[in-house]
Amino acid sequence: MNRPHPLDLHDGPASRVPRPALSDAQLLDTQRAFDSVAGDYDGPRGNNELIQRMRANLWDAVQREVPVGSRLLDLGCGTGLDAVEFARRGYGVLATDWSPQMVERTRNRATLSGLAGRIATTHLGVQQLDRLSGEFDGIYSNFGPLNCAPDLHSVATECARLLRPGGKLLFSVIGRVCPWELAHYILRGRFRRAAVRWAREPMAVGMNRHTIWTRYYLPREFHRAFAAQFTLSSHRALGLFLPPPYLVAFYRRHPRWCERLGRLDDRLGHWPLLRDMGDHFLIVMQRR
Ligand SMILES: C[S@@+](CC[C@H](N)C(=O)[O-])C[C@H]1O[C@@H](n2cnc3c(N)ncnc32)[C@H](O)[C@@H]1O
Repeated sequence: MNRPHPLDLHDGPASRVPRPALSDAQLLDTQRAFDSVAGDYDGPRGNNELIQRMRANLWDAVQREVPVGSRLLDLGCGTGLDAVEFARRGYGVLATDWSPQMVERTRNRATLSGLAGRIATTHLGVQQLDRLSGEFDGIYSNFGPLNCAPDLHSVATECARLLRPGGKLLFSVIGRVCPWELAHYILRGRFRRAAVRWAREPMAVGMNRHTIWTRYYLPREFHRAFAAQFTLSSHRALGLFLPPPYLVAFYRRHPRWCERLGRLDDRLGHWPLLRDMGDHFLIVMQRR
């Protein structure tokens, strides 16, 4: 069975809430939701072919922007796929996540890979970065943990404290404009669902009978929260021509077509206007 990617809202209803900020109870909802899927998150839910393709973009960007051998901080590490890959490439990684079960998965993966010497783990939400000390050369976050952050401005302040001057932030973030998703729902007459990414407030996303509280961003909205301490180096679309991860069945039915679409993503995803769209966007910022 193809399970949807959790932050793509296909596993349950999404509803509007009037509250602009995330409460402690909402953060706990999100934590429980991810705890509940940590066991099988490396399968279709969290790492299907489309996700793997997008994942490689972040890997390459980090290697381009941060010298091998440097120290990285992973925000919302999930099961540790990225942390282990970066350790394999020669980085030291501190992997953090708000879900204790996800942190446990990362710890086990680090041990099993024989790379535990290069990977440290800690149970920490992005809203708790003030508890962290040390200096990093790069901070990355893959597949939307920052969409669950209660306050991006304080994330920016803490990242600026933890990053050396000139260091890089590399985040993949769920965007507002996903043409595939719009078409998918509009063609099915589900207009409210099609508009869900345009909500200003956090949205309740069902997953595994739990709730994830998620906000959506345009790249420029996202950068605004970081602008005081970070310059924008680049941003690009991820999953613009290719369908979003929850449509992996389409990808499997049409592999050749999708290979072509993937090449369009690679070639055109950084073009003006196009780079503001996509299922996710990859944004790179530099500490002033
Ligand atoms: C879609 S998963 C992505 C996981 C991983 N980065 C990957 O690429 O597979 C989102 C992750 O964000 C974590 N998360 C959610 N809210 C968070 C928060 N407030 N602070 C830190 N991590 C959070 C979840 O526990 C989950 O592991």
